[in-house]
Amino acid sequence: MKHLQFIDEYGSFSIKQPENTSYLYFPLASETGLKSSLTPNLGGDSKTDQETFLLEPVSAENLHNNRSVRNFWLVCEKEGIFSATGASAKQEAVKFTALQDQSKITAGFMWHTLERFSSALSLETRITSFIPVNDNVEIMHITVRNQSDSTKDLIPYAAIPIYGRSADNIRDHRNVTSMLHRIRTDSNGVFVRPTMSFDERGHRPNTKIYYVCGCSGSGQAPESFYPTVEDFLGEGGTYTHPRAVCENYSGVPAGTTAAGKEAMGAFRFPRIRLAPGKEAEYILLLGVEGTHEGIARIYEKYNSPDKVRKSLEITKSWWKEKVNTGFHTGDADFDRLMKWICFQPFLRRLFGCSFLPHHDYGRGGRGWRDLWQDCLSLLLMDPNGVGQMIEKNFGGVRIDGTNATIIGDGDGNFIADRNGISRVWMDHALWPQMTTKLYIDQTGDIDILNRQAPYFKDAQSDRGTQIDTLWDAGQGNLLRTEDNNIYTGTILEHLLIQQLTAFYEVGGHNIYRLRGADWNDALDMASEHGESVAFTFAYTGNLRELASMIRLLESRSPVKETKLTEELRILLNDDPELFENTADKINLLASYTQSCRHRVSGRRFSVPLSELAENLEHKADWLTGYLKDHEWIDGGADEGWFNSYYDNHGRAVEGFFPNEVRMILTGQVFAIMGNVASEQQIRKIVNSADHYLYQKEIGGYRLNTDFHELKFDMGRMFGFAYGEKENGAVFSHMTVMYANALYRRGFAKEGWKALKTLAETALDFDTSRIYPGIPEYFRSDGRGMYHYLTGAASWFMMTMITQVFGVRGEAGDLILAPRLMAEQFDDQGKASVSLVFAGKKLDVIYENPDRKDSGAYKVSSSFCEGQKLQTDKLGRAVLPRRMLDTLSGGRHRIIVKLN
Ligand code: G1P
Repeated sequence: MKHLQFIDEYGSFSIKQPENTSYLYFPLASETGLKSSLTPNLGGDSKTDQETFLLEPVSAENLHNNRSVRNFWLVCEKEGIFSATGASAKQEAVKFTALQDQSKITAGFMWHTLERFSSALSLETRITSFIPVNDNVEIMHITVRNQSDSTKDLIPYAAIPIYGRSADNIRDHRNVTSMLHRIRTDSNGVFVRPTMSFDERGHRPNTKIYYVCGCSGSGQAPESFYPTVEDFLGEGGTYTHPRAVCENYSGVPAGTTAAGKEAMGAFRFPRIRLAPGKEAEYILLLGVEGTHEGIARIYEKYNSPDKVRKSLEITKSWWKEKVNTGFHTGDADFDRLMKWICFQPFLRRLFGCSFLPHHDYGRGGRGWRDLWQDCLSLLLMDPNGVGQMIEKNFGGVRIDGTNATIIGDGDGNFIADRNGISRVWMDHALWPQMTTKLYIDQTGDIDILNRQAPYFKDAQSDRGTQIDTLWDAGQGNLLRTEDNNIYTGTILEHLLIQQLTAFYEVGGHNIYRLRGADWNDALDMASEHGESVAFTFAYTGNLRELASMIRLLESRSPVKETKLTEELRILLNDDPELFENTADKINLLASYTQSCRHRVSGRRFSVPLSELAENLEHKADWLTGYLKDHEWIDGGADEGWFNSYYDNHGRAVEGFFPNEVRMILTGQVFAIMGNVASEQQIRKIVNSADHYLYQKEIGGYRLNTDFHELKFDMGRMFGFAYGEKENGAVFSHMTVMYANALYRRGFAKEGWKALKTLAETALDFDTSRIYPGIPEYFRSDGRGMYHYLTGAASWFMMTMITQVFGVRGEAGDLILAPRLMAEQFDDQGKASVSLVFAGKKLDVIYENPDRKDSGAYKVSSSFCEGQKLQTDKLGRAVLPRRMLDTLSGGRHRIIVKLN
């Protein structure tokens, strides 16, 4: 029997003895800010932001010893003590023996139930943890059941240490900050209000109150409190052997204060008498609020088992409904895994890239790349308002084509970087266009290109190489004209500036410079001479796609030209001789960036849309030829691939080296996606990737081969052990983009192989050792790492919907062009996807009775609610927007027959 089993179609699962697996953690969060992680012993932390940690912050390595967190003890007068979380010295001592408690976790979106059974005490406990959608409180609903045939006398204790301060204080003044604590016992719990937020750059008064409170199922309050760690543990006591529990001594009554010590949300409930087969219930509430009234409100809202059960049901259905995409294929486990993958983008939106045990970096914000990637999944699940979000995000672009990198809360809130000259990631201009393209495809709203947005302004100028000394913070963060008016340009202008400035910023090989790094953050040591061929491919694709978006705009609008800022004119240089000349390109870019270093003129010129499109196509064509001529590595009759980078010594990074073959997946992905690689080249690339990068047991395609070199002229990635993170792990995001690129170019079998291997490894618990979902990467032994918060999830979901199922928008119409393999259909030859498109709930059902493979079948007929659909020249079923608009209410079935 498999360790981990799904229990319903929403991906809820259960797993026995989870505490026997290391590094497991599960996320819980509310929409209002509380974020928790839970280990199988209910270790893990809880916080609303970097400054506000309710429970002590943990990193992955703390999890082995993380027994000091949420605990619920039962003192059984005759048989001894028992921890319902399994976190007692006694229970630990019998771990891995026949005497170990039986335990099981069952979990679904934002809820987690831990069950334990002690044969020694004949006690069964169940703790359901969840965070309601709109409150910052983590609820623990505890049930204790007497499984013996005699009556038991039990004394229950809740024990949760309250950290109550900033994560920064975990080492910086940990003890000093405990002196700030002012602690009070209330009738139902322990409240901690630190006097100030400790920060040597400027201490601030604190108003937050951290609390742990509780009651029994029948409304009984605790009878005795242990408000400090010292009170509870006793001299020499430990969290797994606390003297208050072991010696059963009394604490202090409600209404007591304590100060200047580590706080403890610990209290004892009155003794209970439990007849055989009977249950008792307890509710613990842990959270943070701004006022005592706030805590009273929460307490009132959740102080009975009925209220808690109701809230749990609301929480469960809220998240089920949010994840409104569902797949049905021949593999039910894969479909359930997809549920989690579709849920992950929500987690990333709530947790950012920080705040889970592996994600112990950053202070909670999201990066530029993440901002745009999260929009991708939103466009597929919750598209309302994404248009405005996109428009606002364009306000983060600087006039020199770079962008703000510090992203504040709320949409379109960008913050100036005050640290002198800041890093420029050369891939950043790529993602806004990809997201805008998906937006236009899904909605048909091509007019977004004509909408106006401001430009971000701070002291950084000339693509992060100069400081604009004329600017100061008092002038604000919006670019102005010479007349001191705020300048706005169309979104099209923003896109053009991003793509065109990148085009001219080349290095010694006439390839786009790597600068601070590209998508691969760990290529951060080649900023002078490094070049990213990989992203030059990607930008080539972008230039071509932008041209086609402009052509669509022209065909749809009565106005055939667009107005652009006067300075931009020189970026439209169309001279192939200039393209060949690295020095001239750099000079041209410098003239542009200097001309708008501080302000822009405010004058505009008009240019016909068709001319603009052609201009971009010329650049894309030139790049395609140039890249093909210069970057291909011949690998013999059936193999070959593209070089992805030049290092800081200007040397090509890939190829056949004396001791090894060096190959990186990134260049291949974008050569394919950017339409640079020919079909014949794609075949060779696939063979080489299978030869050098593919390892089935650990998730499939690695990011690179082992260079056996530290390469200080490339980046920190080569300092990582081979197989970890960006150095040769199976990095899910790049593997998924590889699959996406292959599908786009018609290589369905090859694309599916990449996706399937990732999914199979994730689902193989004995290898991946993670709960269902896609991790950031699989390391060399196949363990899934940095689980949950990864851009790979958005891309996986997008690839499944728009490529594998081929359900995608095209200028607003719905296209149905499946590329499913035979094995992806069920026994009856059916496969389906449920999703929302154009605000309508659709079930798209493909019928392939002969279970043919992609390539062997064609769309023979298709119907929407019984109405026949047209098939276009490319053999795809098309549901025009106007027909979609007539659909009303409920779900709608689209049946596509394949033959
Ligand atoms: C992470 C970062 C992403 C970066 C990638 C590679 O990927 O979030 O911005 O491009 O590492 O360095 P993710 O966790 O999204 O898979």
